[in-house]
Amino acid sequence: MASWKVRGGRQLIGRVRISGSKNAALAVLAASVLATGPVVLENIPRVQDVEVTLNILHSLGVGGHWEEAGLLRLEVPEKIAGSIPFAEARRIRASSLLLGALLAKKGEAHIPLPGGCNIGLRPLDLHLKGLAAMGAAARIAGGQVLASGHDLHPAKIYLDFPSVGATENLVLAACRVPGQTIIENAAKEPEIVDLASFLNAMGAHVRGAGTDVIRVEGGFELGPARHTVIPDRIEAGTYMLAAVITRGRVTVENVIPLHLQPVTAKIQELGARVEEAGETLTITGPERVRAVNVKTMPYPGFPTDLQSPMLAVLALAAGTGVVVETVFENRYQVAEELQRMGAQIKIEGQTAVVIGQPKLWGAEVRVPELRGGAALLLAALAAEGESRLTGVEGINRGYEDCLAKMQALGAEIVSEVS
Ligand code: UD1
Repeated sequence: MASWKVRGGRQLIGRVRISGSKNAALAVLAASVLATGPVVLENIPRVQDVEVTLNILHSLGVGGHWEEAGLLRLEVPEKIAGSIPFAEARRIRASSLLLGALLAKKGEAHIPLPGGCNIGLRPLDLHLKGLAAMGAAARIAGGQVLASGHDLHPAKIYLDFPSVGATENLVLAACRVPGQTIIENAAKEPEIVDLASFLNAMGAHVRGAGTDVIRVEGGFELGPARHTVIPDRIEAGTYMLAAVITRGRVTVENVIPLHLQPVTAKIQELGARVEEAGETLTITGPERVRAVNVKTMPYPGFPTDLQSPMLAVLALAAGTGVVVETVFENRYQVAEELQRMGAQIKIEGQTAVVIGQPKLWGAEVRVPELRGGAALLLAALAAEGESRLTGVEGINRGYEDCLAKMQALGAEIVSEVS
């Protein structure tokens, strides 16, 4: 297990280039199986979840190699012959997107019940209900998810909750269904818009992505495409909060400021200065942050993926902040680890009350999951003394070159392998 030794107290200063969005990349990679022929993808982050997805695609018979950093060239066969390697696929939640993609491509899909971060129950009921509405036989049996149906029909589907994964899966499946499928109460995340523009570049007709009604006119042959994935708004938000917590000054480059508006607004409320210039945002942290209240919501609300890093920031605020998590039911695992560093956090159901402290102290802490890991890193950067973060593979699952990027901003971190 790898760990990082962090000496806290250094202000982060400088510029950091934000990688392509992990979550958009995972959706786009799943979507690529719908094409036949070459697919060229740019701005793909080389993180563990992407590598796992690539291994799965290879097992399905999709050829592919990194041509240069961030540039992936895939060769998608007309017929998918291979099968999904279960042990590999269970490692990531996004393998569930292959359900819609493979159903569309070959009329059936078997995937293991997906894993990924343990941040809640994460059922697939909305995915399965939507696929069933299109005429697929979709069920869970023996630890697997099975979907089949060679004659799918268009449907009007209302999602009980605007699930990102369910919206993506249904859009993918609908691409091969002749006629118009309508998804209402669809997720509006920028990653959905990115998936739709990639599908449209392949020849699909997806309209309304980014609003809560998506219309897919399916049944078109999908072919070669070239696509550049959007910047990772969660990675950007994490570095923005790192600037805030270390009272530093950081410019995040290669971002879409519009995607970060919900985050920028909260960061300003914390007392930080945010300057926008083209595709960059420069954040200057205040001497001490003000306590704020945060409620996570589907986009364009405050992202649940930045809730944990926000807990770390509020742990050092002047005053008490209240955080309400409305998206995932088990996203406060990191609170216990933050408490080892001196944070005062009380959890009541989906609410966390964070009583800001003047200082945090270095400690030995364990990365519970991806975003919780980011929160611990931020806390360690601001804490007095030395911290050891164990299980940093959890951070590397979703942050490209995190160690090197943090070091380049002046963080004192070294990697240790035990
Ligand atoms: C995606 C992101 C994740 C992000 C989340 C919310 C990827 C790979 N991951 O996850 O980083 O935190 O969106 O922005 O893109 N739900 C159901 N039934 C379903 C589907 C979902 O009850 O069939 C519930 C989930 O348990 C959760 C909520 O809906 O409580 C949101 O989940 P969803 O939007 O689907 O998140 P993911 O797609 O898993």
